[in-house]
Amino acid sequence: TEPAAPLRLTDYREPAYRRLPSPVRDFVEGGAGDERALDADRRAFARVTLRPRVLVDVSAPATATELLGAPLATPVGVAPTAYHRLLHPDGELATARGAGRAGALYVVSLFASRTLEEIAAAATGPRWLQLYWLRRRDVLAGLVDRAADAGYRALVLTVDAPHLGRRHRDARNGFAVPPDVRAVNLDPALMAAAHRPAPGRSALAAHTAEAVDPAVTWPDLAWLRARSPLPLVLKGVLTAEDARLAVRHGADAIVVSNHGGRQLDRAPAGLDVLPEVVDAVAGACPVLFDGGVRSGTDAYAALALGARAVLLGRPVLWGLAADGADGVAGVLDLATAELAHTMALTGRPALTALDRTAVSFTPAP
Ligand code: FNR
Repeated sequence: TEPAAPLRLTDYREPAYRRLPSPVRDFVEGGAGDERALDADRRAFARVTLRPRVLVDVSAPATATELLGAPLATPVGVAPTAYHRLLHPDGELATARGAGRAGALYVVSLFASRTLEEIAAAATGPRWLQLYWLRRRDVLAGLVDRAADAGYRALVLTVDAPHLGRRHRDARNGFAVPPDVRAVNLDPALMAAAHRPAPGRSALAAHTAEAVDPAVTWPDLAWLRARSPLPLVLKGVLTAEDARLAVRHGADAIVVSNHGGRQLDRAPAGLDVLPEVVDAVAGACPVLFDGGVRSGTDAYAALALGARAVLLGRPVLWGLAADGADGVAGVLDLATAELAHTMALTGRPALTALDRTAVSFTPAP
């Protein structure tokens, strides 16, 4: 019998995980430590209720928006996630096609398993490139040049991972990236540690320790800004203090994120700190959000609390594993349809009408 068409983002999860070996499922699904930050993301959305207004013309809810100069059909985009060939043989090419079909932003991970140029050729919508600050600045410099040449429109520096989170599932599985899935944008010698399994240890943690520079500080951002004409986005900001520093150091956008609960255990849910960060930024640059969004209504909540766009991590990977580009487009289209529906039923048919009065929400203390 035909499987029922997905009605919710989570309907993509089972078909995805049926196709994946359990260490890959654990890598995707897991968080750091006791997975409290991961739980916090879910619990935060459970505290949101909506404040519907009635007798508003909602015949045409409009989700189209603009971000750093790029038009988008939807404020729901693709978060950077590593190694898409773990999930589907086409890897990031399928993700790029799916995102393009949905009119969504695609943030490509530094650890993509297809080249930046191949992804650019498959894409029809705007792409940004995510970076970790590598010890090898010459390699970083080469990547940012390639990104600009291949039409990527922004650099997204992930600032919450000077060391990899202590991901117990990966350690228990002795998880290493299989040899046929490679971070092809980086030299193989630079990636060798990620492929070297060892019992009781995550090869990704070992690789991060070797490759990522944990000594980077705010003044170093000037080097990256001088090195590339592309706008610089900082991903992984969770406090008003750092939001103000980001603005002062010229960030063109900020992503409020606890990295899907995969870095600091007991980090707050991004949603709980979103209002404080938005207030601290005070309109100086757009604030994006990711972490725990599992429906268009969740996206609505983050937009109402001040996010200009929201990114999906795991749900896009479920769509990719379940059905390639169709699955990715399906996840993004479903989230966008749910968002538009919620906009209609709350009497806020324009994204500009989505403000804090649209939700009732008390951040966790
Ligand atoms: C990630 N994330 C991530 N972030 C990043 O900046 N660079 C990366 O390479 C990755 N890789 C990665 C792999 C996997 C399997 C996951 C699940 C996540 C974090 C990602 O960008 C995002 O912050 C979270 O996934 C958002 O939370 P949800 O939507 O997964 O709940």
